[in-house]
Amino acid sequence: MTAAFPALRMRRGRSAPWIRAMLAEHRLHPSDFILPLFICDGQGCEEPIAALPGVSRWTVDKIGARAREAHAAGIPCVALFPNTPGPLRTVGAEEALNPDNLICRAVKAVKDACPEIGVLTDVALDPYTEHGHDGLIDERGCVLNDLTSAVLVQQALVQAEAGADIVAPSDMMDGRVGAIRTALEQAGKCDTAIMAYAAKYASAFYGPFRDAVGSGGRLKGDKRGYQMDPANAAEALREVALDIAEGADMVMVKPGMPYLDVLAAVRKRFEVPTFAYQVSGEYAMIEHAAAAGAGDRDALILETLLAFKRAGASGILTYHALDAARLIAG
Ligand code: PBG
Repeated sequence: MTAAFPALRMRRGRSAPWIRAMLAEHRLHPSDFILPLFICDGQGCEEPIAALPGVSRWTVDKIGARAREAHAAGIPCVALFPNTPGPLRTVGAEEALNPDNLICRAVKAVKDACPEIGVLTDVALDPYTEHGHDGLIDERGCVLNDLTSAVLVQQALVQAEAGADIVAPSDMMDGRVGAIRTALEQAGKCDTAIMAYAAKYASAFYGPFRDAVGSGGRLKGDKRGYQMDPANAAEALREVALDIAEGADMVMVKPGMPYLDVLAAVRKRFEVPTFAYQVSGEYAMIEHAAAAGAGDRDALILETLLAFKRAGASGILTYHALDAARLIAG
């Protein structure tokens, strides 16, 4: 005989705000977020980025105030990305190694204005190459692994010397994490951490970012020769294992929402801090959906970010970091 009532009523736990709060398995906190910031050349300028509604590039003199704003909202770290002036983009990406380049000046400006906030810099050559690839290419346009890695090592050293707390290789060359770790140690930079873009997919969601750093229009071909195939998950675990063995302090899965399965699998397999990057195309998707009336903007932001926590993220790089931190604070 079946009971006339359900043996367990799950809805009891959902019946009022207090019990929902008490039973919540995951929550968002401003310290979960890393805020990406774009830097442009010049002075006294804010350049809105059309592909990323609500996001701007800032000149170096204005970036300190952005960092202070993030710190005041409880965000522990900013990630800096430069839009290198066109004439400085070359086949050899020499500007990446200039200790006075945009990114190095921006790192110093952030540290001067707000020494309490962490600074993460991207290690990859795409903002510096005239062809928009993350590395040096051969005559067929194929990115050369070991030659690129040697340049990335120098780039990471220049960024660490400027004051970056975390260098984040986003290029997907083989062996670069180990090479960067060794060089940092030899240079006495033992406190500079490495966040490896360990499982970074060749994704259609990076379009607005490439506009923001000015590499999109230049890109010849695609990045499938070094970034991962979206068809693969087991391969991501091999990538992460390698980067950990080479000395990565933290790893990243990127993009975010379409790869929550990968994030969860990495977190389950390895006990390392694992970050997710909710990338530019994901940000744009939420903004355009909300603008079209397809959903409530604030709710979309918080629900998607909470999904990363549920999947096991230690933290999330998101262009919505400030909005989210403020929404959480109420
Ligand atoms: C550069 C880099 C990219 C992103 C972060 N670092 C673009 C790419 O690999 O083409 C994408 C971030 C975003 O879309 O928000 N190597």
